[in-house]
Amino acid sequence: MKVDVYFTPGELTTELPGTVVVIDVLRATSTMVEALANGARAVFPVPTVDDAARIAQGIGRDSVLLAGERKGLPIEGFDLGNAPAEFTREAVGDTSLVMATTNGTRAFMAVAERYAAKEGAGILAGALLNLTAVAETTTEAGTDVAIVCAGREGRFGLDDALCAGALVRALEAADPILNDAGRAARRLIGRKQDLASALADTAAGRYLEGIGHGEDVALCAQLDRTDVVPGFRDRKITAG
Ligand code: MLT
Repeated sequence: MKVDVYFTPGELTTELPGTVVVIDVLRATSTMVEALANGARAVFPVPTVDDAARIAQGIGRDSVLLAGERKGLPIEGFDLGNAPAEFTREAVGDTSLVMATTNGTRAFMAVAERYAAKEGAGILAGALLNLTAVAETTTEAGTDVAIVCAGREGRFGLDDALCAGALVRALEAADPILNDAGRAARRLIGRKQDLASALADTAAGRYLEGIGHGEDVALCAQLDRTDVVPGFRDRKITAG
């Protein structure tokens, strides 16, 4: 099994394999995992605030919740921001969400544009919150794997690279053949790493701390809080 890590969606140039794991650990994929684990029916990821409003109108504004962020903060007129702790069962159970975030939701668009595989586990949302479950689903699917980090506005994000490294380590039993980005990601992760401190000491972690969202970093650092493995298909992400 080949496992290729991409530190940014802009690095995607070749055809994607059957299983692709999109990672935006701070915070979009963590928030999606939390929302679906708490009973949300679906998350529609969209690139822009205008797209979110348009799609919400199309579905019926009263039938969906609008979620997302700009500069890490809630968007005016939206129902929820992008802090995973907001996505409680009470807030999102049995709802559909339309979500616009700066990097995470766009990474799904970039992957979907290139994805044509007929086998494998499809396009998954990965985070530390569901790491082992994603690793198991990925291994069981048996195809090659791409791990695509959302990064930060087209550039490397250490937070996503750390999560990618943790996933590479979780896949080690399958004896994967790694690309150099995969080798680099694996080296970022020690066996007894304090993930919360490691995530906090990244540009995204420091930024979130600075805008008063430091507690989100601690939540996103929790390993295996759920076994939900969200999959992206037909424009929506569901619990599978
Ligand atoms: C993103 O999609 O860029 C992030 O999730 C930003 C954030 O932490 O809200």
